[in-house]
Formats: sequence, C-alpha cells, structure tokens
Amino acid sequence: MLDNITVAQADPILSLSAACRADQRSQKIDLGIGVYRDHHGNTPVVQAIKIAEQCLLDKQTTKAYVGLSGNESFNESMINFLIADGNSKSRAVGVQTPGASGALRILADVINLSTPGATIWLSDLSYANHAPIMTAAGLKVRYFRYFDTDTKLVNSEGMIADLKQAGSKDVVLLHGCCHNPTGADLGFEDWKTITKLAQKQGFLPFIDMAYQGFGSSMQEDVQGFRYLAEQVESYVVTYSCSKNFGLYRERTGLAIVVGKTLEQSLAIKSRLLEIARGTYTMPPDHGAALVDIILRDDSLTDNWLSEVESMRQRVKGLRTQLVNVLREKSGNSVFDFIAQHQGMFSVLGISSEQVKALSEQHGIYIVGGGRVNMAGLQESQIDYFADSLLAVS
Ligand SMILES: Cc1ncc(COP(=O)(O)O)c(C=O)c1O
Repeated sequence: MLDNITVAQADPILSLSAACRADQRSQKIDLGIGVYRDHHGNTPVVQAIKIAEQCLLDKQTTKAYVGLSGNESFNESMINFLIADGNSKSRAVGVQTPGASGALRILADVINLSTPGATIWLSDLSYANHAPIMTAAGLKVRYFRYFDTDTKLVNSEGMIADLKQAGSKDVVLLHGCCHNPTGADLGFEDWKTITKLAQKQGFLPFIDMAYQGFGSSMQEDVQGFRYLAEQVESYVVTYSCSKNFGLYRERTGLAIVVGKTLEQSLAIKSRLLEIARGTYTMPPDHGAALVDIILRDDSLTDNWLSEVESMRQRVKGLRTQLVNVLREKSGNSVFDFIAQHQGMFSVLGISSEQVKALSEQHGIYIVGGGRVNMAGLQESQIDYFADSLLAVS
C-alpha cells in the first residue's frame, strides 16, 4: 500500500537552518528562516505575551474544546484592530486558523469550491509557500511582474500591465506590507491603481498580512490595504501573528472574509468551518487567547505596540548600517536599495552561485534566490557580512 512513497524534497528554508547549525565555523550567520532576532541573536518572548500568559494561567478554568472557528473573541479583536473603523467591517467575518499558513489553505480551498481551478495571480517573486498551497488546493497559479531586478524595487508598470489580464473569476494575491521575499513594497499609488483594476475587472483581492508593524509603522503598513478595503465589493485576508506577536510556534493566524453582503460572508464562513472540520477541526487556542488578552487591554496593547516599534527600528537601523558599511567598503552605491526595502527581508539580486559561495566559503546562509533575513543579522556581524558579500559579488 505505501510502497510508492519516495522521499520528499526537504523544505529549502527550514533545511538552511539545519545546515547552519551543523557548520562548525564560529563566524557562521543564519540569515535564512524568517525569524526576528535581538542584539544577542535571540528571539525573545514578547513582554506583553509574557504578561498575558500569566493572566491566562490565572483565569483559565478549562481546556475543553473551543469551536471550529477557534477563539471568536480573538477573531473580533483582530478584525477591529485591522479594519478599525472601515465600513467593510460590517461585512467581515473571521476564522481563527493554525498560523496564516492555515488561513492561506482554507481560503484557497473555499475559492476552489466556488470556482474550481480558478486562477490566482502571485507576484513574481512571492512567499515560497504561496504557490505550493494554492496548487495543493486546486487553483492555477499565474505570476504578475513585480520585482524589478535592476532597481530592486517594484516594477509598477509591468505589474499593472499584467494585472489588466486578471478577470472576474481570478484572484490577485497582494502582500499587505513588508513583501516576502523581496522587501520591495507597493506604494500607496500602486494600491490605488490596483483598487481601480479590481473594481473595473472584478477580480478578488486576497491580502496576505504577515508583518504588520515591521515596515513603516503599525498604521502606515495597513494604509494601502485599508484604502482598497473601502472601495471593493469583496476581499479576503490572511493575517499572521507569528512575527508581530512573536508567536511563531503557537500557530496563530486568521482568515477574514468580506463578501458583498454579511449574509454572503457568513455563508462562506460556514464553508470554511466545514473545510476546517475535514482537516484539523479547530486551531490551537493558546496564541489566540494571548493576542485577545493584549488587544482588549489598553496598557498591554501599548506595551506590545512599543515592543514591535523597537523591533522595527532595530531592523531599519541594521539596514542603514549595512548600506553605509557596503558603501564605504565598495566605494559605490550598488546595495543602497537595501535601505529602501521594508520589513524583515531583502532580495539582494545575487546569483545562485553567489548564494552557494556565501555559505561554502563564508558560512553565511541565505535563501536561494538571494533572500536575506535582515532581522537575523547582529550589529557585530555587519562588517563580516559586508566583506563576504563583496567578496562573492
Ligand atoms: C507572506 C507570508 N504569508 C504567510 C506566512 C505564514 O505565516 P504563519 O507562520 O503564521 O503560518 C508567512 C511566513 O513566513 C509569510 O511570510
């Protein structure tokens, strides 16, 4: 029965960390997996989460099942936090999921239920797991031009030209902010143009929001999304609490659906719950319960917001320092784009041979395609990283 199973390919990002761990060189640097690290190279538990955990420990009286949609109080808090006072909130429903990964999958499943084999447009490049999740759900993937390999910024013209081909039965997936892997974000004008296209052509905007707070600020990072949300008939969102609440392993995410009417949103929600029931049944509660405690307490919310802001500042600072050192050492401004990128990642535009040389010759591990996790760098490593990068360039 199981004789036909062959070994699957290792996940390219997760296997990088293992390769780095096995490396005996003292100067090795792991810039692969998308995890924030502090000055000491640690990924600490967010302070507000620690406080919320104590509170949960004191007040929780049962570990009985929650429900298929997870923690409904969390769903409501997150919708309030993300959509704020936008009008589309009155049509929004939420389903808590095991990470945003779970949300990506159940939303893809429900789209495929509605329009089997529908096309979902992804940016070229996009998060490594987008295409596998979408195709596993039965959707067809097409790419729109996004990353300009010369400027290392968004190719707005190419993007808009390609999205003009997206029709009323298509879905267009947009990164809400802090684009993974490139670091090149849509500008507000891009959001406006895409909104117009969605209105005219009728495609469904699918927003993946995995890094709110890591770009320009908690509010500015959702400005483009909020503009679009107010103008279009329907949209869906996946939200990850992995990075901004530091809840990576607690698998805390949310799928939001905004249909044409609340009635339609509720019908879609009922199908999402059916899909959840047929797979994992319900998400883990712990992370969502903590986020809910934080978002329902003003002082804990402030505490959390200021910690995210300090993480954001740290990554921004690392970008500036790296650019300055690279400029000084190279005498040119080839890598200046790194300071224009947003969030945790940057695609450096180096070849796979150069990526290989970085790991083999210098013990620096970055994702194939040249994605660097800037949030994994420490100040003391900047010089070595810059020297190594220039040596392979
Ligand atoms: C763009 C994007 N979407 C979704 C996810 C999945 O996040 P989660 O850990 O919440 O499943 C990630 C994780 O890295 C991501 O970068």
